[in-house]
Amino acid sequence: MFDASPPSLPPLGGSKRVLLLGATGTIGMATAEALSAKSHSVVALVRDKAAPEHQAHLKRLSSLANVSLIFGDATSLQSEVAERLCQAPIDAVLSCLSSRTGEPKDAWAIDYQAHSDLLRWCKYKRIEQFILLSAICVQRPRLAFQHAKLAFERELRDSGLRYSIVRPTAYFKSVSGQIDRLRKGKPFLLFGNGELTACKPISDRDLATFLTNCLSNPIMFNRTLPVGGPGPAMTPKQQGEALFQVLGKPPKFKSVPPGLFLRMASFCKALGTFVPPLKKRAEFLRIAHYYATESMLCYDQEHGEYSEESTPSFGQDTLVDHYTDLVRNRGSADLKEHAMF
Ligand SMILES: NC(=O)c1ccc[n+]([C@@H]2O[C@H](COP(=O)([O-])OP(=O)(O)OC[C@H]3O[C@@H](n4cnc5c(N)ncnc54)[C@H](OP(=O)(O)O)[C@@H]3O)[C@@H](O)[C@H]2O)c1
Repeated sequence: MFDASPPSLPPLGGSKRVLLLGATGTIGMATAEALSAKSHSVVALVRDKAAPEHQAHLKRLSSLANVSLIFGDATSLQSEVAERLCQAPIDAVLSCLSSRTGEPKDAWAIDYQAHSDLLRWCKYKRIEQFILLSAICVQRPRLAFQHAKLAFERELRDSGLRYSIVRPTAYFKSVSGQIDRLRKGKPFLLFGNGELTACKPISDRDLATFLTNCLSNPIMFNRTLPVGGPGPAMTPKQQGEALFQVLGKPPKFKSVPPGLFLRMASFCKALGTFVPPLKKRAEFLRIAHYYATESMLCYDQEHGEYSEESTPSFGQDTLVDHYTDLVRNRGSADLKEHAMF
């Protein structure tokens, strides 16, 4: 297990002032909480949107100690907003910012361009440290958002700033999306036999701790850090079995051929010339096919296979604990536009 915990508490260098991006997202929110709990001071750049759910996120952020909000759009930082961000010196930028849709245009505008502009601004303002939340799937890139993330990862590595690039495996929300289907008595959908892929899911809280540790743990400086949660890798079939067990229902599976996604994507792409929303659907189906066929584990180039052993584990929260909490609290995975089922 990769020991990414800081060597001593409180963190080396004491509390820091951190510019946090993506604080209204799943991991960004958990990271704001983790930074606040460690007495770091946080300036969060957030959008002001009227949607009640977004307002609830803003309220939750505002209630945290040492967290202040500045409103603005990361893709078009106005100079007045940029100035307000660094009214006091910023020690580090921590970015959980990402395209909400994964569509090519959006991904290049946010995962690449907004980050690239921000990095230029960091150099200008002499901000010394940049922690980036990326994704393990960029190691075998096929999709636009993966290429956009990789392009920025390269810029960050070459920037001369102290960096940590964190590449997590799957989030709990991404492997909990079928809970409502199962509650309704429907079968768990598997791609192929349900053993084509595997991942080591990591909780929001554990990942947020890992990101926070990057601020002050020297072994995490200037490194690209793949990270999964504790315990062995799980296939989708094992995830389904665990979920049925927690729900107290007998397992019931239905197999879907992953190739179906690609056929549907080609169909949507062809029709997309006449019905533009279908173009977006096509990219979404290509993303779904990727996750149905590629494991979220480190890829061993030499042997041409994914390796559970070389995927570092971190944290304490297990997926089964998460399923148990969801079932107990009648919760659902909050997948928004990523929902597939
Ligand atoms: N899901 C997985 O299993 C998984 C696994 C590994 C890695 N990842 C990666 O982890 C990252 C974060 O995931 P997540 O689930 O936490 O993301 P998320 O919930 O979709 O949050 C995205 C954040 O980015 C913000 N944002 C987007 N466009 C913005 C803009 N123009 N200006 C300001 N803020 C903007 C959003 O703000 P608003 O609230 O205003 O929209 C939100 O705070 C992504 O890069 C993803 O690829 C995901």
